[in-house]
Amino acid sequence: MNSFEELESNVRYYCRRWPAVFSSAQGSVITDEDGVEYLDFFAGAGALSYGHNNPLFVEVAIEHLRSGRLLHSLDTFTPEKRTFLDTIQRTILAPRQLDMVVQTVGPTGATAVEAALQLAQRLTGHRAVLGFEGGYHGMSYRAASISASMAGRETSAHLKDFVALPFVQHVSDADIELLDTTLRSPVNGQPIGVIIIEPTQGEGGARAFDPVYLSAIRRITRELGILVIADEIQAGVGRTGPFFSFEGSQLDPDVICVSKSISGLGLPMAINLVRRNLDTWNPGEFTGTFRGNNLAFATSATMLENYWSDSTLEKNTEQFGHTVRTALESIADSFGAGGFSVRGNGLLCGLAVGDTELASAISRNAFERRLIVETCGPGDTIVKLLAPLVIEPEQLDEGLTRLALAVEEACSVR
Ligand SMILES: Cc1ncc(COP(=O)(O)O)c(C=O)c1O
Repeated sequence: MNSFEELESNVRYYCRRWPAVFSSAQGSVITDEDGVEYLDFFAGAGALSYGHNNPLFVEVAIEHLRSGRLLHSLDTFTPEKRTFLDTIQRTILAPRQLDMVVQTVGPTGATAVEAALQLAQRLTGHRAVLGFEGGYHGMSYRAASISASMAGRETSAHLKDFVALPFVQHVSDADIELLDTTLRSPVNGQPIGVIIIEPTQGEGGARAFDPVYLSAIRRITRELGILVIADEIQAGVGRTGPFFSFEGSQLDPDVICVSKSISGLGLPMAINLVRRNLDTWNPGEFTGTFRGNNLAFATSATMLENYWSDSTLEKNTEQFGHTVRTALESIADSFGAGGFSVRGNGLLCGLAVGDTELASAISRNAFERRLIVETCGPGDTIVKLLAPLVIEPEQLDEGLTRLALAVEEACSVR
């Protein structure tokens, strides 16, 4: 019996694209039951930016498990949570002059989004939400309903009090005008209370908003008393270079949703960073059984301490990003006949090939060449590269070579 096909729900997805049984992993390499090694340019959909089984965090986790420390603690005090809070304050919040508190929300990104929306609604009294085409915020009912990238999919929920504006790569006066008028217009009779934006979109196509547009969002929302939620769940924690992908703009969000790679080790963990004066929650008003994952607090503090006490990782990611984009541009020139384009920042990059079947063939061919890459964006027409930030330069080069071969093969049979 094939246990997976017999016993697992039909909803299973990634295993159809990569039909191997993966049994071990280290850094940027994942190995299947037969000992075949794959380069992992998917990195747990962005949850493994620090590589598989990063030895720094594995040591901390083993020590934690052996010493009889708490694993589960809801939101009671523990030394691990104290160290995590002190470390994120010292390495991330204080250097960026962010006067924010940490809300532990539960294990998933969708929970963070849910909490941020509830807080915004509570603060402004308005239900209507403005989002962006290509935005993806999770699969809970409300998160899915404000994920414009899900529109048209049968599973997507829809809320009437949501409106989405187009993605903006190079801002024009018309974009700002549209933003301004939309924010001033009620949606279904409801004034807009909050904007939710992925400053760099992941599922929407590995693409970054123009920082000037992000700054305009803040200027107009401040004037209108509208809150700004930055969803940094995929692009944050260093994926695009800086810790937050909006750095370099004046977005200055009121709430920042962080998850995926925040534990370092790929453990379930999500937090919201909330501007201190907006933290008006009543005690227990937003709860959740799995808000106190102490193993994740311990590994997260280690990740922040080791990788965010200076700018080495950030600079390295920018350098790697340059390598990836140069390789993708060369692939686009060689095989795209003018129809391919390259997007993204740092190690959140994409090759837009403009065709669903072609993107899918590239991902399949890459797998046959032992490289794991996924597709994303409108109609899944973009090949997305999410190499771990801690990848070795030779592995990055090797993966890009395999990708070029996969693209060449896919193009040659068209
Ligand atoms: C930007 C963004 N927000 C939210 C989510 C949802 O996170 P989760 O799958 O942990 O609920 C994702 C997941 O891919 C994401 O990329």
